[in-house]
Amino acid sequence: MNRVSTTKNTFALTTPLYYVNDLPHIGSAYTTMAADTVARFQKLLSKSVLLVTGTDEHGQKIERSAQAKDMKPQQFCDEIVPNFISLWKLLNIQYDRFSRTTSPKHASIVQEFFQRVWDKGDIYLGQQKGWYCVSCEEFKEERELLEKHRCPIHPTKEVEWRDEENYFFRLSKYQDKLLAYFDSKPDFIQPESRRNEVLNFVNQGLQDFSISRVNLEWGFPVPENPKHTLYVWFDALLGYITALLEPDDEPRLENALKNWYPFDLHLIGKDILRFHAVYWPAMLMSAGLPLPGKVFGHGFLTKDGRKMGKTLGNTIDPIELIDKYGADAVRYYFLKEIEFGKDGDFNEVRFIDVVNADLANDLGNLLNRILGMVKKYCGGKIPVVTTEHIDNDNPLKGLGLHLGEQVKTAYEALAFSQACNLVLSIVQGSNKFIDDQAPWSLYKQTRQQEVECVLYTVLESVRLAVYLLSPVIPNISTAAYQQLGFEVNFNDSTSVEKAPFDIHSKWGLLSSTQNLGTPQPIFKRIDLSKND
Ligand code: MSP
Repeated sequence: MNRVSTTKNTFALTTPLYYVNDLPHIGSAYTTMAADTVARFQKLLSKSVLLVTGTDEHGQKIERSAQAKDMKPQQFCDEIVPNFISLWKLLNIQYDRFSRTTSPKHASIVQEFFQRVWDKGDIYLGQQKGWYCVSCEEFKEERELLEKHRCPIHPTKEVEWRDEENYFFRLSKYQDKLLAYFDSKPDFIQPESRRNEVLNFVNQGLQDFSISRVNLEWGFPVPENPKHTLYVWFDALLGYITALLEPDDEPRLENALKNWYPFDLHLIGKDILRFHAVYWPAMLMSAGLPLPGKVFGHGFLTKDGRKMGKTLGNTIDPIELIDKYGADAVRYYFLKEIEFGKDGDFNEVRFIDVVNADLANDLGNLLNRILGMVKKYCGGKIPVVTTEHIDNDNPLKGLGLHLGEQVKTAYEALAFSQACNLVLSIVQGSNKFIDDQAPWSLYKQTRQQEVECVLYTVLESVRLAVYLLSPVIPNISTAAYQQLGFEVNFNDSTSVEKAPFDIHSKWGLLSSTQNLGTPQPIFKRIDLSKND
């Protein structure tokens, strides 16, 4: 699908390209779940969406990890990459492109891009002296370091002193242009706190950064001087562009840029903000390319209130979590419980409490309860009620009339937690409404019209709720929507086209002409006693 800039009916976004020095961890899963939720929401809006993910495979960190296993780097990467692919499948991630920086087409794109920047006069040879953190693949300022020259992000690792000839990129030249850009696009860097962080950093004065390494084999040779290997970040960021090539395209920039470029959104964690919000835009400016629409830096996850790490022995294995609780529960917890953009914690007891309360009790029981009552009091048929028959002071109608727009605003701001809480308000409101209205008692009093009105109102509220939650919990939403009589599968993009947001997010869609499905539990309560 070609991008038509005026209609903007496309949306292209990326996750970071993950390092393959180790198996995927919960941090990589977190960014990817968020990206998938954005992609699914944009599809509800009837946009053509391209979600790019992939792996970052060069550099010293990977080279050393391979050496430690006595493997060739390429072989090492080839063994790790399938673990990412299988995790994304388990997590129900609908990515469109998986970009590997060791792919031959990427080599061509990097070479061409490097040439553009070289021809612009933005690359020169110089001497790099400084402390290098191999785990971050980044030089650190002395003042940033912890005691004993340890990296603040990897406190168990000592940084290494480097004094070597490197090629440099003239970042300093772009300082004013970057500031002008940030000024003209106030929402380019999100959330606001990250924007301020970047503004401070740039205002302090930008220094040129080195984009080559010597004594490193694992990477692309610098075209002008093969004794140098291209710095892994210079190569990795370009992996986003390589991903845009269609399978049959010749690997040329021109081809990569013709359809989806520029990206609407880069989703990243806060540790890699500078690369995406400063280095990357400057590199693109140098190459004469348009900049992405937005860079969103989310927070860091902790476990039981503590920083996670292998040495601390408290990492979270995403596969184990999904095996135990299912993809929807995992997606829901991280997106609903943690305000996107802020740091957040994982605690298993809290996890179980949240998904049991929201998905099993509030939502699951509500659906079951209402379908049971419709069977009992209305012969299993959706009552013939239109929204005009429902009083304007009906609390669910009051919520439902505005919910779609409010949730849309929240998703667009990547405020997933807010989106979920808004939906929960109509779910909880529905449970309360049933208790207050007591349709069983109205039924006994043969006030059938009122019974039908109550049941319709609740059915419609549940429908709206599961539709709006589908980007977060697509499996549960599909099961629930089908029980409400819709042949929609939220995991199938073609099927989703038949349930567009402008129709399905509106209160009052449910019609008596459709048949309800068989009630079945949509989320099984997690029983703590069966958990070790
Ligand atoms: N390879 C680079 C990205 C290159 S993009 C062109 C990289 N990879 S990474 O695998 O180390 O990190 C990927 C993502 O995981 C980052 O967005 C990072 O912020 C995120 N996380 C790593 N640990 C995390 C937590 N503990 N919590 C949340 N996210 C964290 O960086």
